[in-house]
Amino acid sequence: MNPLDLLSPVWTHLTTLQPVRGEGVYLYDAQGRAYMDFTSGIGVTNTGHAHPKVVAAVQEQAARLLFGQINIVVTPAVLELAQALNAITPPELDAFFFSNSGAEAIEAAVKLARHATGRRNIIVFQGSFHGRTAQAMAMTTSKYIYRYNYQPLPAGVFVAPFPYAYYYGWDEDRTVDFALRQLDYLLHGQTKPDEVAAMVIEPVLGEGGYVPAPPRFLQALRALTREHGILLVLDEVQTGFGRTGRMFALEHSGVVPDILVMAKGLGSGLPISGIAAPRTLMERWTPGSHGGTYGGGSAVALAAARATIQVLQEEGLVDNAARMGERLMAGLRALQARYPVLGDVRGLGLMVGTEFTHPDGRPAKDVAKAVQRAVLERGLLLLTCGTYENVIRWIPPLVVTAEEIDRALDIFAAALAQVTGA
Ligand SMILES: Cc1ncc(COP(=O)(O)O)c(C=O)c1O
Repeated sequence: MNPLDLLSPVWTHLTTLQPVRGEGVYLYDAQGRAYMDFTSGIGVTNTGHAHPKVVAAVQEQAARLLFGQINIVVTPAVLELAQALNAITPPELDAFFFSNSGAEAIEAAVKLARHATGRRNIIVFQGSFHGRTAQAMAMTTSKYIYRYNYQPLPAGVFVAPFPYAYYYGWDEDRTVDFALRQLDYLLHGQTKPDEVAAMVIEPVLGEGGYVPAPPRFLQALRALTREHGILLVLDEVQTGFGRTGRMFALEHSGVVPDILVMAKGLGSGLPISGIAAPRTLMERWTPGSHGGTYGGGSAVALAAARATIQVLQEEGLVDNAARMGERLMAGLRALQARYPVLGDVRGLGLMVGTEFTHPDGRPAKDVAKAVQRAVLERGLLLLTCGTYENVIRWIPPLVVTAEEIDRALDIFAAALAQVTGA
């Protein structure tokens, strides 16, 4: 029997590549063939595959203590991670809660927001992805597949437009004005502001198409939420830990949320997530009303996260993401000039989206998927995203070098030539 048949078909697979080793941006199969991983396992391995310092921290911790349940004991590992995070998050956000996955951290943010405000409703933005648990699914509109045949979902979630200028075909200012007007409309037509606990937004729309939210929009949300006593939640699950060329994407707009949601890049591959909020807010979360077996207790995951932050800082990976992102974007813009099917190139740092569009304006999912297959044949792993699956996203580990960026661009150029016949 093929052991692959033992896996649930609910998992889709970009490849059935079976890597036995990873190093930096490369994955290696048993025959030693190298693949350039420009997916980072969907934004997880920001420090590169099996970074030696993260591996050493995991090994050292594992040899001493694997687990210390946080309702029973407090491990040095959890205190050290809280301190490390406190040093890199905005000073206002000085209390931390840990869990295992992004969806779980979103659940925590919503539970805290509802508990602290006594309000029920949540506003999210079109195209968002917040996870696959029931509450997170109810907040996810990036593609219908994530909700398909699961409805009805928890109520009290309202969806406002995301300022996605390329989709609307307008300039940034007009799109931001439109999105703000629609939000105001929602707050007059669908839910009164004083029943809204939180607005939750990704500073760069991830699964929904790699669309940075213009700083003016985020700043306006901050002002509006303050005016109405609504909590602002930034979902930095995909944008965090250096991905956008800053430690957190919030630094691009200067907007400090009430709750910051973190996962993925935090653990370099070990399952760990968390939320950060002002202690005064966390104090309104009744003790015992939330928690979990593993959150804050898996000493190995906590040690991996602490080592990850150290590596990001010591090796200047956040600055590298900004520099390599510029190089990548410049290379993609040059290709865009040659291939009109590349309708839009956008992003922040090493979170870059290339949106494929047919001449008549229809989303070119067929071209994006063909290019994705063509780069795979040449040993480069790239993911797609977007509601129409017509965006190829670029999300390499932050250790990527200029040579590796150029190599990936060459492969992409060859794939474009092959697929378009140009
Ligand atoms: C922005 C964002 N939020 C939440 C999640 C959910 O994270 P997880 O898959 O770890 O539950 C994801 C996952 O892709 C994400 O990109």
